[in-house]
Order: sequence, then C-alpha cells, then structure tokens
Amino acid sequence: MKIIVTGGAGFIGGNFVYYELKNHPEDEIICLDKLTYAGNLETLEEAMKNPKFKFVKADIADRDAVYKLFREEKPDIVVNFAAESHVDRSIENPEIFLKTNILGTQVLMDACREFGITRYHQVSTDEVYGDLPLDRPDLFFTETTPIHTSSPYSASKASADLLVLAYHRTFKLPVSITRCSNNYGPYHFPEKLIPLIISRALADEPLPVYGKGENVRDWLYVEDHCAAIDLVMRKGRVGEVYNIGGHNEKSNLEVVKTILKQLDKPESLITYVTDRPGHDMRYAIDPTKIHDELGWLPQTKFEDGIRQTIDWYLNHKEWWQNILSGDYQNYFDKMYGERLD
Ligand code: NAD
Ligand code: TYD
Repeated sequence: MKIIVTGGAGFIGGNFVYYELKNHPEDEIICLDKLTYAGNLETLEEAMKNPKFKFVKADIADRDAVYKLFREEKPDIVVNFAAESHVDRSIENPEIFLKTNILGTQVLMDACREFGITRYHQVSTDEVYGDLPLDRPDLFFTETTPIHTSSPYSASKASADLLVLAYHRTFKLPVSITRCSNNYGPYHFPEKLIPLIISRALADEPLPVYGKGENVRDWLYVEDHCAAIDLVMRKGRVGEVYNIGGHNEKSNLEVVKTILKQLDKPESLITYVTDRPGHDMRYAIDPTKIHDELGWLPQTKFEDGIRQTIDWYLNHKEWWQNILSGDYQNYFDKMYGERLD
C-alpha cells in the first residue's frame, strides 16, 4: 500500500511516519510537507534512510503540486496531518489557518476524487467541541457533541471536518475523521506547553502559565494517537468520526509542577501571565466508540509518558536548541516579551 502522510515533518505526523515504517514495513510512505516554521527535516533524518520512505516539499493548498504528486504516486491512502496548529498564533493571525486548514483540506480531497483513493483520513482535534466547565467532571465530549469552537484554530479545524463529511455525503469520498485530545511526546515543537516548560526549566527561565493555570487538558502520549489513527484509517468505518483520548485530565499547573519535580527545579520559576483570549477551560474525551469498535486503548500512563518525554528532550538537546536559536526566538519575544517582564 502507498500512503501519503501530509505534515509528516511536524510533531504528530513525524511520529506517525516512524509508527508506520515500524509497524507496516510492507507499505510505502510519502511525506508531503511545506516545511513551515513547525516542520523540521531533522525529525525525519532516520526515516530518510529507509527506502520505503520519500519526502516531497509542497503546500497542501497548492493544487498543481498536489495533483502532480497524486498523478505520479497514485496513493491508496491519504492521511492529513498538515495544519497550522498553534492556538496562540491563530489569535495573532488567523488567515494562514483558514488557507492551510480549510482550503488545503479541500485541495487534498479534490485530488483524492480526481485520482481515486481507498481512504482519506482527516486528523482533527477535540477543540472542535469547544470546552467543558470545570465544575462538571461528569461531562465528556462524544462524537455527537455539537461543534462549538472558541479560537480561529479550532474554527478552521471544525470547518475542515464539515467539509470532509460533506465530500463523503455528496461525492461518496471514502473518508474518516479522528478527533484527539492534547498530545505530548518526542519531536513536539517547543512553543507548546509541555516542551516549552521542559526547555525553559532546563535553562532556569521563567515559565509562563496563562491565567491561574487551572485549565484542564486530556493528555495522550503521541504513540497512542498514532496507533489509533492507524487503526481507523485501515479498519474504521467510512464516513465516521472517532474520538481519541485516554481519560488523563490534568490542570496546566499540575503538568508544570510534575515536570519541575522530575527535573528537580524550583516552583518559583512559575510565572503567571495574562490569560489567552477565549481560553478553553477543560477538554475531556469519551473514547468509548473507538474502543468498542476497534479495540483501541491507550498503552502509556501519563507518569511513564512524561518521564520518557523529558528523557527524550534531555537526550535530544540539539533538536530543540536548533529550533530555539532560529526564527522561533522572534516569535517568543513578540508573544511573551511584555507578559514576562
Ligand atoms: P505541527 O504544527 O507540529 O506540524 C504541522 C506540520 O504541517 C508541519 O510539519 C508543517 O510544516 C506542516 N504544514 C503546515 N502547513 C502546511 C501546508 N500548507 N502544506 C503542507 N504542510 C504544511 O502540528 P501537530 O501538533 O503535529 O498536529 C498535527 C495535526 O494533528 C494537526 O492537524 C492538528 O490539528 C492535529 N492535532 C494536534 C494535537 C496536538 O496536541 N498537537 C491534538 C489533536 C489534533
Ligand atoms: P497548548 O500546548 O498551546 O495546547 P492547546 O491550547 O491546543 O490546548 O496549551 C496547553 C495549555 O497550556 C492551554 O491551556 C494553554 C496553556 N499554556 C500556558 O499556560 N502557557 C504557555 O506558555 C502555553 C504555550 C500554553
């Protein structure tokens, strides 16, 4: 089988490339990635040595480039990770989120219609459901929870999901969608909470916690997410949405304190900063459907996953230090400069 993985030079897509090469060595993987600030070829260094893997630099919203690739490669499956993925950036500048996340999805699906595929899989997020209140721990997102978005990022992902379902209904495109909770693990770009805290704590720098740090996220180890996507794209029912999450809710403050404890760094590094506008309070996934239909269960407990993640960052300093020394530093100064003063 030939699989196009878009966004494979990013965090989850990169982990997914390695998951596929390891678990399905018979399949060919073609990574299509624009290499935005979030895409990093160093992540794919090992994969490049595998003859079953190929990298193509292109924008998913570039119709000519996408059609050319489909014409040449005739993929069986397309799995779309490519996206602008950071909520804070979407608040600063929504436009590229609409272009990549919505129009890019459309171009990919048009190519699937034109050249024929067995499955188009859309990697989506629990953020399309909006948020849940802190005082209702009995509530969870199910696949039938109404779409109710808060940020330009989540609105763009929800728009793409609706378009994917419309292409199924109208054009009979064989699609599936997974909506996952927050991931953590290796190759996570250090603008996101967990790698940001690890990298800054190691440098004894102030750790920006938004608001009171009470917001809750449902953390899932990235390999568990990859296993779930692999199952759904191969065996999930066409036209269906599957939620993915591991019942692993933690407040941001709990996460930050866990990392500080493991790194043996003082809690005095925590610095409360102005909250994110429209900040979602709590995400929590009910993963019953994927468990009942496909037998998926997360394998990694948070305590083990966070330890492995911290070890990975300790052992791969060059990977993230290269990022921090480049363009990202300008972004950090712009976003946090005044908030951390
Ligand atoms: P990321 O920002 O780390 O990586 C995104 C990748 O997409 C990068 O390699 C980037 O170069 C590429 N890309 C961006 N625009 C592109 C374009 N126009 N054409 C081609 N490539 C482009 O993102 P991530 O955290 O790995 O997220 C991957 C997917 O999973 C996204 O669709 C995101 O919405 C979804 N998701 C993420 C999480 C999470 O916790 N990170 C949770 C649920 C769902
Ligand atoms: P993030 O990693 O950006 O993921 P998302 O917003 O998609 O859930 O943020 C996770 C949580 O951490 C979120 O509640 C915002 C918070 N946060 C901070 O408190 N400080 C930070 O510097 C960042 C990046 C996030």
